[in-house]
Amino acid sequence: MSAATRLQELLGIALPIIQAPMAGVQGSAMAIAVSNAGGLGSLPCAMLGPEAMRSEIEAIQAQTTRPFNVNFFCHTLPANDAPRQRAWLHALQPYYTEWGIDPARIASGPGRLPFDGAAAELLSVLKPPVVSFHFGLPTPDLLAQVKAWGAKVMSSATTVEEARWLEDHGADVIIAQGLEAGGHRGMFLTEALTSQLGTFALLPQVVAAVKVPVVAAGGIADAHGVAAAMALGAAGVQAGTAYLLCPEATTSTLHRQALQSDAARHTALTNLFTGRPARGIVNRFMREQGPMSGLAPAFPLATAAVAPLRAQAEAMGSGDFSPLWAGQNVSGCREVSAAAMTRALGAAQPGVNVR
Ligand SMILES: Cc1cc2nc3c(=O)[nH]c(=O)nc-3n(C[C@H](O)[C@H](O)[C@H](O)COP(=O)(O)O)c2cc1C
Repeated sequence: MSAATRLQELLGIALPIIQAPMAGVQGSAMAIAVSNAGGLGSLPCAMLGPEAMRSEIEAIQAQTTRPFNVNFFCHTLPANDAPRQRAWLHALQPYYTEWGIDPARIASGPGRLPFDGAAAELLSVLKPPVVSFHFGLPTPDLLAQVKAWGAKVMSSATTVEEARWLEDHGADVIIAQGLEAGGHRGMFLTEALTSQLGTFALLPQVVAAVKVPVVAAGGIADAHGVAAAMALGAAGVQAGTAYLLCPEATTSTLHRQALQSDAARHTALTNLFTGRPARGIVNRFMREQGPMSGLAPAFPLATAAVAPLRAQAEAMGSGDFSPLWAGQNVSGCREVSAAAMTRALGAAQPGVNVR
């Protein structure tokens, strides 16, 4: 049995294409369209409260009978570090002054919450067929709860060590996330950026190291890229950036414009927006303060202080303080339906001529 067939049977999908969960730029509409087209649609839940999560999952269940994925972050919330917070606000003070913002009025709050008991309870009622995690896996008891209704579990690995760890701790599918990928690095056993590999260096090493199916992610934007990943042993592909211009995405106008401009050719990993490295299109904030900064508070606490700058700049039509998440390969971004994008990515199956 080919690796792709194994993945397709495990997840119950017709095409070995997974639409990457992308918090902040898509909801149920994208997941429904992709699942109905034969891929695996994903709902990012990292920024959803319980009510929104329930209604989004119910919307998916009402509009597709096909499998879908719900995605969570599983970081540990850091303690507040007052001196670091002060240093961060001090670094941002020139921008507050420029935009006339009073930093004392900045709302604090974590922004992105990890998977917890309440989410597990809700899911055990709704029983999504696939659950994926970023930043490792939840605690063994929470993971057991997820597996209790038969959900298949996926998680991202950015190194061979992380892939082995995920397999040892119960992941059914491993997403090998290469350095090209847009959005947050899923890294969880190391903080060293020098440990991070490109997709086609990481993928074959992960395939050789684990027995579970491996999905390739990062910089794969068309059927040829999918075919190349399959040739290196991938059982499927998880693509994110390619879907960002689809009408089902909620990508902002500013973000869409940036993706279609020359600026999209220059992305970098930055921790300025959340506290963890994530890949986005380089903008003024990243150029002036980073792209990486030792001052940014730990994930996800960096977000709050940047939020008013982002809001002010966006209100004036500027993406200079917005996280313009994108991978290194925007060449596949098209203003086509998510179904058409899924079929185009899936056209590289054996026996199908992609040209
Ligand atoms: C805008 C954006 C948001 C993302 N948000 C998430 C997320 O919420 N959860 C997650 O597991 N991965 C997230 N990712 C990372 C993807 O899962 C995946 O690794 C990446 O999109 C693959 O690389 P590509 O963007 O080059 O296709 C995000 C990626 C992008 C581009």
